[in-house]
Parts: sequence; structure tokens; C-alpha cells
Amino acid sequence: MDYKLTQYTDAGGCGCKIAPDVLTKILNYNRSLHLDNNVIVGNINNDDAAVYKISDSIAIVSTVDFFTPIVNDPYTFGQIAAANALSDIYAMGGKPIWALAILGFPIDLLEHSVGIKILKGANSICKKANVSIIGGHTINNPQPIFGLSVNGIIDIQNIKQNKNAEIGDYLFLTKPLGVGILSTALKLEKIEQTHYNLAVQNMLKLNTIGIELAKLDYVTAMTDITGFGLLGHLLEICKSSHVGAEIFFDKVLTIEGVENYIKQNIITAGGKRNWDSYKNYILGTNDLNRIILSDPQTNGGLLVVVQDKFVDAFKSVLKKNNFLKHIEPIGRITLNKNNQIRVL
Ligand code: CO
Ligand code: CO
Repeated sequence: MDYKLTQYTDAGGCGCKIAPDVLTKILNYNRSLHLDNNVIVGNINNDDAAVYKISDSIAIVSTVDFFTPIVNDPYTFGQIAAANALSDIYAMGGKPIWALAILGFPIDLLEHSVGIKILKGANSICKKANVSIIGGHTINNPQPIFGLSVNGIIDIQNIKQNKNAEIGDYLFLTKPLGVGILSTALKLEKIEQTHYNLAVQNMLKLNTIGIELAKLDYVTAMTDITGFGLLGHLLEICKSSHVGAEIFFDKVLTIEGVENYIKQNIITAGGKRNWDSYKNYILGTNDLNRIILSDPQTNGGLLVVVQDKFVDAFKSVLKKNNFLKHIEPIGRITLNKNNQIRVL
């Protein structure tokens, strides 16, 4: 049987995340739960992963990420979900080592072979990242879901948190935007094959470079762009660092084809939810830049905050690692006590 997995869901990939304002309401019930002294990064600043100290120099970094299908093919879905789950470890500057799988699907509607294919896809990506899947949990669920809880290690001095961005720092982004729009086009069966291939390629690219970038002292903050879009994740940095930001929109890259689908009015519900939840913080938008900048990404690029004196040094690092299209800064951190982001 050939199943089209996206037909079993409302919104796929990181587009199925709960909107940031609702999430904040849920999490705010008590952010200061009992924390022992070894917790280095907890849930106060919406960081990508939790960090727990196990020796003077080493900490364990842990995250969990799962979602509904963003593509129809089970193997590819497993690959994307795994690559996306690893990303939060890389975004903290950690090295992922082992993972547990979370799998749910409607056992009355889908054959068990679908589950096998999803796991095989995840394993292929984890093998590439040198990560072992060593356990997990499965449930019978109306919507298929898959993801991983990933654990890794990190040198304590390399941890990159959201709270340390400084006024004047420049912003870099390591992948183009638009995966959310392309996946909506896929769900509506309106996507061209070449654009589908580009979207998948983009989602499968591991953010491994985070391990290298975390070693740079002049990188003050780092996060990965996922369900809340570029604006949402940049806003998390602005709020935790008590700053604002501006975005140089003409420097923000999109995946080929994205603007054509926007012209056909193919936009994501998740993007709209994102925008509604943070629009009060954003200045200078129009229809086009608003849609692109709030588009939910799945395993999107790393947003890297770099001290202005080291911009040239950082560009060389990007070049050396073959990020040639991403060496221009896409924005800057500004003084703004209301944490506003202005799109230029
Ligand atoms: Co993240
Ligand atoms: Co996450």
C-alpha cells in the first residue's frame, strides 16, 4: 500500500507546534520548579535544549522533538523528524550521542510497515550523525507522529544560550526560509517536483556546524529556526537578552519557488498563528516579508549572533565550511527595551 502520510494530519512538521503565545501561557504556570544546582540551562528562556552539569567541564544536553508528517513518504518523514530533533542539540553547541524514539500512528488505518519505514529513515540520519537510537515508546494515535528525544554532551564553556546577545551584534542564518510554504503546497498537491526536492534537501541538511560555531567565543547566542519562524525565534533571543533587532530583508534567502507559491496564495496556518501571536513586537512588515519571516521551518538553519568586530572572521569560518550563500549578515541586534524587531 502507498499511503500519503500528510493526508492524516492538519499541519505537518514544526507547523503543528502550539503557537508561541499559548505555549507561554502553559509554561508560565511555574517556571521555577525544583531545580538542583547542576541545572545549567532550564526552561526559563525558551532555550533549544536543557543542559545538566555532570563534571566541572562537561554537561549533558537533552531535548525532545516530535511532530506529524510533513511529507507523504514514511522513510523521508523519519529522516526529517530525526534531523530536526538533532538540531536542538547542535543549536546549543552540543554533540548528540544517543536518542530514544517516539512513534504513534493509527494501527487500524496504516500497516505496521509504515512504522518500520519511519524508523529506518530515522536510523539512516542518526547513523550519519553518529547517534545511536537505543530505545523508545509507541502509541496508537489518530494522527501519525514521530520524533526523538536526543541526548548529547557539551563542553560547559561552549554552551550557547539565548540570553547573551549584545547590542550591535550581527545576525547570520545558515539556511534559506520557506519550507512551511512548500510543505503546504505539497499537502495541496500543487508542488512541482524540483521544489519538493529542494525542500526535502533543505530539511535533511544537518546543523552539525553548530558544534564548530559553539567553540567561537565571539558567537554570543545561537538558536535553530523551527516552528515559530525566523521572527519567533529571533524574538526569543531578544526577550531573553533584553534587546531588540533589525532584519535586512533583502539579505534573507528563500528556497527557490517559494515566492511563486505565495503569489498563488499558498500560505500556512502555522505561519498565521505565529504572526498573530507576536505581531505587536514587529515593525516594518508588508504582506510578503511577514509571510516569509513567520513561516514555520522544520529543521531550519541556525541563527547565529556574532560580535561586530568578528564579522570578517566569522565569514571565513562560514566559507571554510561551505556556507557560501550565507556569509552576508541578515540583521543586527539593537537597543530596544520593548524587544521590538524592525524589518528593513
Ligand atoms: Co530549537
Ligand atoms: Co524543539
